Amino acid sequence: MVRMLSSSFATTALLVASNFISPSLGCIRSVPTNGTSSYPFPEIGDDTPSDPGTNGYFINHLCLNVMNLTASMDFYTEIFGLRHILTLHVSEHYSITYMGHSHGGKNGTGYQTASELNREKNNSEGLLELVHLDVPNNDLTSSTRVANTFGHIGMVVPDIAATQARLDAYPGIEIIKRTNDDLMVPSDIATATSLSPEKIAQLSPAEREFILGVLTPFNKPLIFVNDPDGNLIEIQPQEGAALA
Ligand SMILES: *[C@@H]1O[C@H](CO)[C@@H](O)[C@H](O)[C@H]1NC(C)=O
Ligand SMILES: *[C@@H]1O[C@H](CO)[C@@H](O)[C@H](O)[C@H]1NC(C)=O
Ligand SMILES: *[C@@H]1O[C@H](CO)[C@@H](O)[C@H](O)[C@H]1NC(C)=O
Ligand SMILES: *[C@@H]1O[C@H](CO)[C@@H](O)[C@H](O)[C@H]1NC(C)=O
Repeated sequence: MVRMLSSSFATTALLVASNFISPSLGCIRSVPTNGTSSYPFPEIGDDTPSDPGTNGYFINHLCLNVMNLTASMDFYTEIFGLRHILTLHVSEHYSITYMGHSHGGKNGTGYQTASELNREKNNSEGLLELVHLDVPNNDLTSSTRVANTFGHIGMVVPDIAATQARLDAYPGIEIIKRTNDDLMVPSDIATATSLSPEKIAQLSPAEREFILGVLTPFNKPLIFVNDPDGNLIEIQPQEGAALA
């Protein structure tokens, strides 16, 4: 719900995903403004109830185009515990794969078979769809390399320190930022968040510095990793969980 916000800089998805409305706002220095407002400020939505014609709508999945399906499936399975629901082999070189979490199942055993997951697939939230075109030249440029329309996948974990320990134990994983480290600009995180060097060159140095000052505390507890294609994944501690 970040559409049509007047303070476009202070309301990136990164902030919203990181509990923008936080008491820690008080310690952020303010910059001179044109006198009508002082940044950052949150703007809570005031939409009226949605059109009843949209009742029951929900976001079922996010889709990534992947360069190496095996590498992507291994990554999301081993690092984040998603499980393979199904792959539709559309043709010899084109496939569509669905993955999803199934920790509790319906009966709390923590396990459901892929066919059970598939039966519920069209009713589930938070699934990942991986599209793979298996041809010699299938290079794709992720938003951590060149700012584009994709931002990140936001994951919530109950224990951020334990998650970081899991990541550390996994060979070859690209950790972009550890919990309690400061956000860096330029960086993969910044680029994937519209703040690539080319984009922020259009801002004054003062505004660039101000943005970093605002984003840094929000991002402090978070971990960021890249998936095999360079898609950014933000890992946020579950609300109320103790920080490392
Ligand atoms: C001050 O900035 C706000 C937000 O960008 C804008 O809506 C408003 O028109 C500006 N006021 C003046 C006097 O420039
Ligand atoms: C795809 O990824 C798998 C698993 O990481 C790896 O073994 C394989 O060599 C990769 N294939 C290509 C074409 O890079
Ligand atoms: C829970 O679900 C799993 C997977 O469907 C099934 O194998 C298991 O028997 C169920 N357990 C109970 C207690 O119903
Ligand atoms: C889910 O939706 C897809 C696409 O509409 C359909 O092909 C599939 O049969 C549905 N799955 C189930 C289990 O109903």
